[in-house]
Amino acid sequence: MIVDPTPGNIDRAARLLRAGQLVSFPTETVYGLGADAHNATAVRRIFAVKARPAEHPVIVHIAETSVLGRWARAIPAGARALAEAFWPGPLTLILPCRPDVAGVVTGGQDSVGLRVPGHAVAQALLASFAALGGEGIAAPSANRFGRISATTAPHVADDFGNEIALILDGGPCRHGIESTIVAFTDGEAVLLRPGAVSVAELARVLGCAPKLTAASAPRASGTLETHYAPRTPARLVPSAELAAALGELARPGARIAVLAHSVAQPPLFEGAWFDAPAHDPAYAQQLYANLRALDALAADEIWIEAPPDGPEWHAVRDRLRRATRGA
Ligand code: TXA
Ligand code: MG
Repeated sequence: MIVDPTPGNIDRAARLLRAGQLVSFPTETVYGLGADAHNATAVRRIFAVKARPAEHPVIVHIAETSVLGRWARAIPAGARALAEAFWPGPLTLILPCRPDVAGVVTGGQDSVGLRVPGHAVAQALLASFAALGGEGIAAPSANRFGRISATTAPHVADDFGNEIALILDGGPCRHGIESTIVAFTDGEAVLLRPGAVSVAELARVLGCAPKLTAASAPRASGTLETHYAPRTPARLVPSAELAAALGELARPGARIAVLAHSVAQPPLFEGAWFDAPAHDPAYAQQLYANLRALDALAADEIWIEAPPDGPEWHAVRDRLRRATRGA
């Protein structure tokens, strides 16, 4: 079911999508679980397979910016400028939608999320899909609802087994965390989810920084407080406290798995110790694979060394805060 992205397999994937099947494909952020965005029955199957609540909208992936008007009824100047600057790439724009966009795609809202992905396999798939008359591929991240996103084809297979028709294997995703989301539903730019395109880069193109939203405001599942979460309880521990906390806070006999990026493994520590890259974006690129691997150890707790405060860690802090909520 995992196949190489040969021209023949990409064509097969496009045909399966047109026939109403689900196909997983790589993007530069994370793997997507795709369906023909005009086929409401197929999009509904995404929700069933992911066990995702129906009111959450999905992003429509399009081949190129010129198709934007097929989905959006208004394209504010700022949105157009961002599309020109960052597409194809890891940016999603939320725009007022045309009335014929299916309610299952928009979550019943008056807006639609749109993205031109930059990954060569995603681009080839969208081109083949367009050649068959397709206009957009609706695709959330290819993970079960609330769990860790998939950044490799085997991650997708782990979550969905034989429930989907095909997984195109494009290797590990380059960015490793989901796209930056900017909404233009009230005219002004609002950052709904931080990602590889930074606030500084958005501000440079927009001429001013986007408004930052309160985490609970928009109806976006990526903004739920517990998201991207391992099954094992996970907590963030400041670097300066990590070594001491392992001695003082860990229950005797507790099996603890650690994701560190600057602290060295203490000599007497007996649990699992993962050394993540000390710098973003390499840290982000490996984050979900690391969280999935740590989760698979079935430890009692996962302790994650808190990331630094700098702006380059904004998106990683956002994902880790959600992964560790309630632990
Ligand atoms: O990088 C990404 O964005 C990946 C790849 C596959 O493109 N996709 C992704 O999809 O992360 P998903 O569904 O896991 O997250 C998309 C987020 C969700 O939180 C969804 O609620 C929000 O975008 N979203 C989509 N359409 C929206 C809309 N019209 N209004 C508000 N939020 C929207
Ligand atoms: Mg997701």
